[in-house]
Amino acid sequence: MKLVIFGSTGSIGRQFVKQALEQGHSVTAFARNPAKLAIEHPNLNIVRGDVMDLSAVEKAVAGQDGVMCVLGAGNNKYLSQ
Ligand SMILES: NC(=O)c1ccc[n+]([C@@H]2O[C@H](COP(=O)([O-])OP(=O)(O)OC[C@H]3O[C@@H](n4cnc5c(N)ncnc54)[C@H](OP(=O)(O)O)[C@@H]3O)[C@@H](O)[C@H]2O)c1
Repeated sequence: MKLVIFGSTGSIGRQFVKQALEQGHSVTAFARNPAKLAIEHPNLNIVRGDVMDLSAVEKAVAGQDGVMCVLGAGNNKYLSQ
């Protein structure tokens, strides 16, 4: 399947990307900072963007079979509480 993953650089998102690629899917990883993903694979397409940008999201989901959303606010907020 063709999958797009939002939150791909997060702790869960990276696992999604790895496991989807291992299972033979074609993955589009949507990321604000693609360098953070640190995964290379022939079936991995990385799209730089912010989910607050509607047109970037629309482009990323166009033609996909599945959309995974594992967005989060970051772990640091828990560390300060
Ligand atoms: N981790 C757990 O054990 C756990 C358990 C239960 C539920 N959850 C839920 O699962 C979700 C993901 O958790 P996580 O631990 O993987 O979170 P995380 O490590 O904080 O990752 C969050 C991801 O969302 C991305 N993101 C945030 N705002 C964005 C924006 N405006 N545009 C594009 N990307 C954006 C971050 O990108 P950047 O890298 O650019 O910041 C990062 O890739 C959260 O909703 C969390 O509450 C997590």
